[in-house]
Amino acid sequence: MEFKRFIEDSAKRNKSPIVLALDLTRKNRDELFKHTLKMIASLSQSVCAVKFNHQLVLPLGLHDRVTTLVNEVHEHKIPAIMDAKINDIGHTNEFIASQYFSAGFDAVIVNPFAGFKDGLEPVFRIAKVQQRGVLVLVHMSHSGANEGYGQIVLDEKGERSSQFEVFARRALQWRADGAIVGATFPETIARVRSILGTEVPIYSPGVGVQGGSLSRALAAGARYAIVGRSIYESDDPAKSAENLRRSAATSS
Ligand code: XMP
Repeated sequence: MEFKRFIEDSAKRNKSPIVLALDLTRKNRDELFKHTLKMIASLSQSVCAVKFNHQLVLPLGLHDRVTTLVNEVHEHKIPAIMDAKINDIGHTNEFIASQYFSAGFDAVIVNPFAGFKDGLEPVFRIAKVQQRGVLVLVHMSHSGANEGYGQIVLDEKGERSSQFEVFARRALQWRADGAIVGATFPETIARVRSILGTEVPIYSPGVGVQGGSLSRALAAGARYAIVGRSIYESDDPAKSAENLRRSAATSS
């Protein structure tokens, strides 16, 4: 099944637009692995996908314990996304994406600063063949994100535009499966939504600890919210995930 449908089905079934960012850390790798497995088991019914980052891939090994974790995510019938922010030349990007896909990931995140030709094109190509997803960073969530994604540039027609507007148009043109815009910039979400329409869903990280509001992000046009520390660092992660799921349901 293609990625966009996979996550849409899982969001409907679990009645949740929350993508769990599992950036766990532990000094001991066995402990990290066991703790992550436990988190997946206890939180999966409240979320529509799990997003992995280097916090797990580096200490646990992609084709070793991360593959086991991705399989565990799939046991709950939800997709696994790799937040690789792929950003190199095409030859290397193709290798990186194919490694993540062969480990079972359903989608990867790419950085559009790399460009398409000899940059991200091979990632889109192999993703299409394997029915995997590619999510494009359009505007990041941290406070310095404006320095790059918010700068004024000349677009293809020589007209002044914000960098993120150019990236939103590229996400459409490249037929991306999603665009990422920080919840900390709700006006930017609304602007990107006006460019993308309903064709490319917006994923919004930065809710909670980074200061973004779930309800504002969803009201501005985000389809999914990516949430990490507000869930897994809370005293009761299952309850926090469930509360977020419920409050998303009332605000959408
Ligand atoms: P917290 O703990 O702040 O975690 O809820 C947020 C998660 O989202 C990732 N993140 C981003 N990923 N574009 C991305 O692709 C972004 O703009 C962005 N901002 C945050 C972060 O790595 C963490 O996993």
